[in-house]
Amino acid sequence: MTLSGKTALVTGGNRGIGLATVRALAQAGAEVHFTARSAANLAAAQRDLGDIPATGHLANMTDRIAMATVLDLGFDILVNNAAVIAPIGRILDVSAEDWATSIDTNLTSAFHATQRALTHMVARGGGTIVNISSGAAHRPQEGWSAYCAGKAGLAMLTRSVHLEYGHQGIRIFGFAPGVVDTDMQVSIRASGINPVSRLPRESLAPPQEPAQAIAWLCTAAADPLAGQELDVRSPELRAAAGLPPLP
Ligand SMILES: NC(=O)c1ccc[n+]([C@@H]2O[C@H](COP(=O)([O-])OP(=O)(O)OC[C@H]3O[C@@H](n4cnc5c(N)ncnc54)[C@H](OP(=O)(O)O)[C@@H]3O)[C@@H](O)[C@H]2O)c1
Repeated sequence: MTLSGKTALVTGGNRGIGLATVRALAQAGAEVHFTARSAANLAAAQRDLGDIPATGHLANMTDRIAMATVLDLGFDILVNNAAVIAPIGRILDVSAEDWATSIDTNLTSAFHATQRALTHMVARGGGTIVNISSGAAHRPQEGWSAYCAGKAGLAMLTRSVHLEYGHQGIRIFGFAPGVVDTDMQVSIRASGINPVSRLPRESLAPPQEPAQAIAWLCTAAADPLAGQELDVRSPELRAAAGLPPLP
């Protein structure tokens, strides 16, 4: 797998699946950039990355100007990874403001990043976008109405981009990473609100697994899957991306 000569941006690349994706893309030879929303998180990520070359940018996903400044560097690959699980709560227990913040972070900001990235990709004749999806895009979970609605919207954005720009060399994928051992799952376990929150930590996948599949999606080998919502638990995808079969 080689991505040498390609430039990539991972949003929310300072921890969890995003950080593992920064590593995987860099190890595949890409020139990798990532965003983090605080200087402390940026510095911590650079420490975690050690010798792995990656350029961090301070940008909140919801700050259109800061994100445009980064995206105007022009990337071959965009991984829309940054997202929040909050607010967790049944519909009568969450505020409309918190719901809107979730949609702004998980959906509208991904739209803005996609739009800005696309202007450069279309001008260059091609590019790859990976939208990090979730099983929640297709199946409601109690207490996650904002997260589910945002991810469902993101899945439709994936299909819309494919419809409108697929013929102009834009490869876009929705990718559900499975249930992964990150801080997001710590918050989910603390809530105890639905079956996902009761999954034991030992049953969760390491972030390196989805990261390896994301890097594979950025290669030409994944061309036939463009425009689709994919799941790391697919045996075919795992085999193609070099991941071990699930037990
Ligand atoms: N973990 C799972 O089981 C799972 C399952 C399905 C889908 N996903 C999806 O996978 C992706 C990564 O999740 P994760 O588990 O790695 O989550 P995580 O550990 O909570 O990390 C989320 C990342 O997004 C960043 N982020 C959130 N809001 C942001 C904002 N406004 N601006 C900039 N960055 C922001 C966070 O930055 P801070 O460090 O500053 O908070 C962090 O870097 C998400 O799209 C998530 O929905 C995860």
